[in-house]
Amino acid sequence: MFLSLPDVLRTQRMILRKPRQSDVRIIFDAYAQDVEVVRYMVWRPHRTLAETEAFISYCIEEWDSGRSRPYVLALEENDDEPIGMLEASLHDHMIDIGYVLQRKYWGAKLMSEAINTLSEAALALPHCFRIQATCDTENYASARTLEKSGFVLESKLARHLVLPNLADEPRPSLMYARCR
Ligand SMILES: CC(C)(COP(=O)(O)OP(=O)(O)OC[C@H]1O[C@@H](n2cnc3c(N)ncnc32)[C@H](O)[C@@H]1OP(=O)(O)O)[C@@H](O)C(=O)NCCC(=O)NCCS
Repeated sequence: MFLSLPDVLRTQRMILRKPRQSDVRIIFDAYAQDVEVVRYMVWRPHRTLAETEAFISYCIEEWDSGRSRPYVLALEENDDEPIGMLEASLHDHMIDIGYVLQRKYWGAKLMSEAINTLSEAALALPHCFRIQATCDTENYASARTLEKSGFVLESKLARHLVLPNLADEPRPSLMYARCR
């Protein structure tokens, strides 16, 4: 039985909500093609709108299946304009997260605000005991974001993940978790 998170989460400055087909164009223009943004992601920069369209359709399917909550992040005052995503993969007693933010919003601590709200909601569920995230050992911004969201560094995972924008072979990651 997968854990269940709310359809909408609100933080001080943002709303986290289900992706929509109308998000495709904005996500494509705002960050899906940006090589700096996707450097440490497991996907290559999108070259066509169709790639972003397929990705959002996949996110909606995942959401509807209950396996995952790939939340779109939007500023409170403009719910129609995605600025990034925070995906929570749901397991029996644990949640795995991944995240990305449009470059012009970097440095405003928006992602730690979103992760913190999601973590509090998740750890309040009776069966959820752990939220985890991995990041590349060189992704300093991501590691700092997790530390500021109350995550603790647990270990280094050798040869963990292929990041296609960096190398063809698996690279090491850091495993972070926030537990109760
Ligand atoms: C990781 C990421 C989500 C952080 O989001 P954010 O809301 O900017 O996070 P913060 O404002 O808390 O900043 C976190 C760190 O990013 C770095 N940072 C801040 N502003 C930055 C900027 N303009 N450019 C580059 N790095 C910056 C700093 O190291 C900062 O840590 P510090 O506060 O200790 O100085 C964002 O950088 C991003 O989307 N990166 C690309 C996608 C990615 O790598 N996702 C994670 C995969 S594991």
